Amino acid sequence: MSTSFATIPDDGAPLRVIVVGAGGMGRAWLRTVEESPLVELAGIVDLDLKAAVEAAASLGRPDLAVGDRTARLASDVGAQAVINVTVPAAHHPVTTEALAAGLPVLGEKPVASTVAQGLSLAAAAELHGQLFMVSQSRRYNRHLISAKRLSSSLGSVGIVSAEFFKAPHFGGFRDAMDHPLLLDMAIHQFDMARFLLDADPVSVFCEEYNPSWSWYRGDAGSTAIFEMTGGERFVFTGSWCSPGQETSWNASWRISGEHGTVLWDGDNEPVSSVPVSGNAAGLEDPGQEIAGSLRDFVSAIRTGSTPMGQVHQNIMSLAMVEAAVLSASTGARVSVDSLLEDSYQQAILAERDPAVLEILKSWTSVRSALAGQSVAL
Ligand SMILES: NC(=O)c1ccc[n+]([C@@H]2O[C@H](COP(=O)([O-])OP(=O)(O)OC[C@H]3O[C@@H](n4cnc5c(N)ncnc54)[C@H](O)[C@@H]3O)[C@@H](O)[C@H]2O)c1
Repeated sequence: MSTSFATIPDDGAPLRVIVVGAGGMGRAWLRTVEESPLVELAGIVDLDLKAAVEAAASLGRPDLAVGDRTARLASDVGAQAVINVTVPAAHHPVTTEALAAGLPVLGEKPVASTVAQGLSLAAAAELHGQLFMVSQSRRYNRHLISAKRLSSSLGSVGIVSAEFFKAPHFGGFRDAMDHPLLLDMAIHQFDMARFLLDADPVSVFCEEYNPSWSWYRGDAGSTAIFEMTGGERFVFTGSWCSPGQETSWNASWRISGEHGTVLWDGDNEPVSSVPVSGNAAGLEDPGQEIAGSLRDFVSAIRTGSTPMGQVHQNIMSLAMVEAAVLSASTGARVSVDSLLEDSYQQAILAERDPAVLEILKSWTSVRSALAGQSVAL
């Protein structure tokens, strides 16, 4: 198993990228790319060419190259990397196509529609020796990093809780989907908990429910208790139909340790009951949300550093979502190892590329394959 990836040394010119997916989030990415001196926007891809044309016009660049095929447009414009902001169902095909064309990929969360597809993408990244990083944008937050630093003075940390209570009326697909909170939102908090604890999930017990006044078809509320690899418990509780006294989009956090507690309201500087030396002002600025993940991605490609969200590392955040959904539907505690094993078998059965299949089959265990350190070639 190798998670080595090719680098593109800095020659003074910005990295030429194309953005695939010109929907709501795609437009946010396009603005971020345009504002960054690290990258140069070389084109936009969307199955819906009109959406790509309109997005180019809205940037004030009506002459920008557009297309409906990723590898073709990338080749036509000499792109060096791909930013995949398509719908989750398209993450696997679009990223597979880009990696096979020899291009590194920065993709929106979730890594793919399923953990099984995520494993296929990890194997494809290994096969082609290209970086595939998932942008888990809420990690790029100065206060979150500060909360992690403060928690290092608590002694052993045993309990982390995140409360997420909001009342958005989205309309559209979220109102009609199954598991709207778990599938569309909770991955952010699950991933943040992994970051705060430097730990991965072992098992989960989760309940989902839909309050009587909910305007969602699927369950808008859920509570999940995860056991993490250090023995800690991470408790997520939230609702998407709770007006009044709403929490931050980042959630409201409590980190409880042997000697004290860190509180973070999700929007302001966290506080600790244990005095720490130094102050947060000295912390390195991680960049803000997608601008931070874009910077991390370019830095990894330029220097070979391992970015947060490298595919092998990121899959465990989607595994937390799938395990929580499975627990809620079966009423039983779910072992993440058994979910990973089932996903691995599904990935092997579904894989159509013989070379990717060979890589998957060479893994001795999913956890050890995902734990592989990435190294620049
Ligand atoms: N990080 C965050 O906070 C955050 C917020 C919103 C959305 N997202 C993520 O961003 C992604 C996109 O979400 P969105 O809200 O922009 O969706 P959207 O439906 O508004 O846009 C998706 C676009 O992708 C295009 N597309 C679909 N399949 C394609 C394919 N095979 N090739 C090229 N284009 C294709 C569609 O035509 C559409 O224009 C999702 O993965 C979502 O989870 C992340």
